[in-house]
Amino acid sequence: MCYAMPGKIESVEGDHVAIDYFGQRREAVTDGMEGLVKGDYVYAQNGFIIRKVPHDEALEILETWRGVFDKLKAEDEKQSQPPEKQPADRELSRLLLRTANGARLTDGNLLRLLSSTKAEEIEFMAGTANSIRHRWLDNSCCVHGILEFSNFCKHDCLYCGIRASNKSIRRMRLTAGEIVRASVEAVNVHGFKTLLLQSGDDYSFSDDDLVEIVRRVRSSCGVLIFMSVGERSEECYRRMYAAGARGALLRFETSNPEIYRKLHPTSDYNERIALLHSLARMGYMIATGSLLGLPGQTHRDIIEDIRLAATLKAEMYSFSPIVPSPGTPLENAALPTLDEMIKLISVIRFMVPNARILVTTATEQLSPKARELSLKAGGNSLMLNVTPQAMRAEYNLYPGKVTSDSLQEQIHSTIELLKSIGRAPTDLGR
Ligand code: 5AD
Repeated sequence: MCYAMPGKIESVEGDHVAIDYFGQRREAVTDGMEGLVKGDYVYAQNGFIIRKVPHDEALEILETWRGVFDKLKAEDEKQSQPPEKQPADRELSRLLLRTANGARLTDGNLLRLLSSTKAEEIEFMAGTANSIRHRWLDNSCCVHGILEFSNFCKHDCLYCGIRASNKSIRRMRLTAGEIVRASVEAVNVHGFKTLLLQSGDDYSFSDDDLVEIVRRVRSSCGVLIFMSVGERSEECYRRMYAAGARGALLRFETSNPEIYRKLHPTSDYNERIALLHSLARMGYMIATGSLLGLPGQTHRDIIEDIRLAATLKAEMYSFSPIVPSPGTPLENAALPTLDEMIKLISVIRFMVPNARILVTTATEQLSPKARELSLKAGGNSLMLNVTPQAMRAEYNLYPGKVTSDSLQEQIHSTIELLKSIGRAPTDLGR
């Protein structure tokens, strides 16, 4: 997972290959993999070829897929029809129907949508967003693995459970060897195709250490690597890219500099944004976004957050509710409601119809149905926790985050959910 299915190479021109997936054509780059020829089977993720797949193995996997591919598509087609039941506010339903047909929303429209409190309106928004998701992106849903390898952090963000001055938590870090082992297991045993390696801003890992970890993971298994290691230097990011990292997850947390300043006593808004821009220039795919429910945040701020992510050409929109974390200055903050989150996901989908929108693990905290409802409101990406159990308990960014479900259980329930709503846990590349 992305439980991508293998594709068959149709043509190779220099670094560029065309790949066929049951008659659908996608492009990808070889990303340094040599000797690829027409007829080879490969896994591609986000337009990068990550691994060649032996013929026999590919045919076997495709055979399994062939049976379910069309069924899943049909199910999604059925479940993502534009909603029929229109809300009483006819103006709002007309607005959303126009949006579904590609009309742009004004700031006034967006504010109206975000401030809706009526269940029928929120349902109509979600259904419309889901139909847009379907039209632009079909039924693919990415399922990345997240490996949390250190909860030491030099920063002191007011909402974060692993902030430096929270003395009430146990700190833990994995060794490079443990990180590589856990990654290889996630990829080779569990089938993940994209991994996010995440830690606090932990400088006991030198730049050399991080670069070496990327190099070892990349050379030990065919996987697309995203790094989420905070505000390391440009030089460090450049070297990690050279070692094989292709994505970076770094939230800007809020696009409002004033709110940022109040919540982040140890880091600077402009530097963070500048770093995001330079990561994009280096070629990183950027996963970014903000936190919903920050003190002082307005709906206007949220619209600007989405715009900022779009300006950064986010490959993945990672927006999350703030979950009050004990031992932090925001421990008594109000948890946003699932409705707030559903509206946010829908509005992202309206503003950026082809966005890859992550249903974050914090969103999943909001209700047992949160994952499904978010996927049905335009979300199309998930992350599963591949961190070894012993470490998982310590990575408490916020309460309730820790899942005791084994990876096998998480995969099983995820696949079942995706099947039930017609989504293919696959990434067909670009
Ligand atoms: N609630 C939700 N998300 C949080 N993060 C940190 N603390 C919290 C919290 N209390 C998120 C931040 C950070 C990411 C690694 O975890 O957005 O970027």
